[in-house]
Amino acid sequence: MNSVVDFSLHSYRDDAAPEATARPHITVRGLSKSFGGAPVYSDFNLDFPKGRVTCVFGPNGCGKSTLINMIAGLIPYDDGDILFDGKTLQQTTIGYVFQNYREALFPWMRAIDNIKYPLVIKGMSKADCDARVEELIASFDVKFDLNRYPYEFSGGQQQLISIMRALAPHPEVLFLDEPFSALDYEMTLFIREKLQEIFHTTGVTMIVVSHDLEEAVYLADHVLLLTKRPTRVADTVRFDAPRPRDIATLSSAAFVQTKARCLDIFQREVRK
Ligand SMILES: Nc1ncnc2c1ncn2[C@@H]1O[C@H](COP(=O)(O)OP(=O)(O)O)[C@@H](O)[C@H]1O
Ligand SMILES: [Mg+2]
Repeated sequence: MNSVVDFSLHSYRDDAAPEATARPHITVRGLSKSFGGAPVYSDFNLDFPKGRVTCVFGPNGCGKSTLINMIAGLIPYDDGDILFDGKTLQQTTIGYVFQNYREALFPWMRAIDNIKYPLVIKGMSKADCDARVEELIASFDVKFDLNRYPYEFSGGQQQLISIMRALAPHPEVLFLDEPFSALDYEMTLFIREKLQEIFHTTGVTMIVVSHDLEEAVYLADHVLLLTKRPTRVADTVRFDAPRPRDIATLSSAAFVQTKARCLDIFQREVRK
């Protein structure tokens, strides 16, 4: 059996900061998943720390999306247990932001109804739904008209609507699968800052898949580096630069060193 990857012991042995001992939020135990007989995960164990941003990075096709999709209940797994603070997924409120925002929003619903959707299916009253949406509009400082339909918005606006929808029910965990990959650079920067703000104000546990190492480190408290299939944890690297992070963070010595360390681990794994 693989040993459990404990963020407090495994990765930060040379770091004595109390932050390193964030308690686990999501525990993955004995997880196995194959596609057509080919294993992606086999007896995989991992903890995701609570109230932290974990960025998942690894080679293309290694199983990043598969991992978060299994945790979020979007695809089944063959064996294992996944718990959230000891609770099942059904007992937990989560939010999910898809890579492809164009297919993620319901095209027949106005933006505002997309955002309300998770509240409506929970059976929330109209007044409470309206109040929650107003709150989100204020906190995101949305200037565009949410009574329009998804196709009427730019890609960045659609992704922002997706994020608002994911946050509407006050999730305990927010999953984002490459949320910037279809956005232009300006929008990427904007959404990145929004995510930092959300994290700062809500302290929600965030799991972000990214194929951009610079972005992964920039956003992360922990970078989770995965190997090629069959997938294991290559290492976890902590980045504890103060927040809010900004352009200056990107040229700080700590950032450059952390990114180099991740790249080194990644290259070692890819060359194997
Ligand atoms: N529905 C599926 N059927 C068969 N193979 C799949 C399916 N989904 C993913 N895979 C395979 O599993 C592996 C991991 O996929 P994925 O999690 O999408 O990778 P990543 O997100 O890291 O790029 C890939 O080799 C992919 O081809
Ligand atoms: Mg993927």
